[in-house]
Amino acid sequence: MSASSPDWLLDGQTRLLGVLGDPIAHSLSPAMHNFALARQGINARYLPFHVEPARLEQAVRGLVAVKAIGFNATVPHKEALFRLMDWCDPAARALGAVNTVKITPEGRLEGYNTDVYGFGQSLREHFGVLPADLPVIMLGAGGAARAVLEGLLTAGLHDITVANRTLPRAEEVVDACRRRHPRASVRACSLATVALDRCGLLVNTTTAGLHGDALEEVDCARLPVSARVMDIVYGQETPLLAQAGRLGLSTADGLGMLLHQGAAAYHLWTGREMPVDAVRDHLQRILRQRANHA
Ligand code: ATR
Repeated sequence: MSASSPDWLLDGQTRLLGVLGDPIAHSLSPAMHNFALARQGINARYLPFHVEPARLEQAVRGLVAVKAIGFNATVPHKEALFRLMDWCDPAARALGAVNTVKITPEGRLEGYNTDVYGFGQSLREHFGVLPADLPVIMLGAGGAARAVLEGLLTAGLHDITVANRTLPRAEEVVDACRRRHPRASVRACSLATVALDRCGLLVNTTTAGLHGDALEEVDCARLPVSARVMDIVYGQETPLLAQAGRLGLSTADGLGMLLHQGAAAYHLWTGREMPVDAVRDHLQRILRQRANHA
């Protein structure tokens, strides 16, 4: 069934889903969820909502009032949304950040963080089960880094260096994580002093590659040939992944994380498994079209 099929209804019983963000125009989530809903003949639509931070609570109350099934949140709302929830799952509580909300029939707000699961699932899909003592370096210390770090620890990895341009931000992320995982060996360092020669997995969560900026301090030629390199950016090859690819290292971009966090949210809302492979093909088509029109 496709979006143009007469069986994919839009009628008096159509339910609402969506994503709140600021900005929101480039989100792939509407394409991802509407494709899956149409394919499975589920009478719901997923819309993008541009919501400024000052209007977040108002938007959430509105979605409760219209009996939406639930919604996602992206930058900059994940932390503020956490504070509006009636209940949160352990991943959302660990991070103080919510990216998925389920609205119960009584209007109760249940908050989840499916980014952690999405990252872990993507890691396993690309690189298999990694040895627990594999030395990991995570670049960056923003909001995305917190979810990735939790995902790494949840995947059983416990030798992790958090490297960031601004050292105090890396220290803050590490301190918060040590309180939750006292037995893990997690440390902070500055990007300028990061030692790559023992690294088994390098994960880039910085926004540098988004603007095509190279991370001058991180030269993949210094990594062992067995190292895996993942960037959470999708839809464009970052300079880091391009260099790692040229060197023949095993690489992965962020599309898998996007897809699997979405699949987990979809399951929470509909009780159905998202057709992940078909959705991935659909998103890759959209990304190719966008690249051709850029
Ligand atoms: P997000 O919530 O998406 O992770 P963020 O909180 O703005 O975004 O964090 C962006 C991350 O990318 C930070 O770790 C930032 O480093 P600083 O803490 O030093 O600002 C990192 N970053 C962005 N541009 C960078 C660049 N050109 N070189 C190195 N790090 C960069």
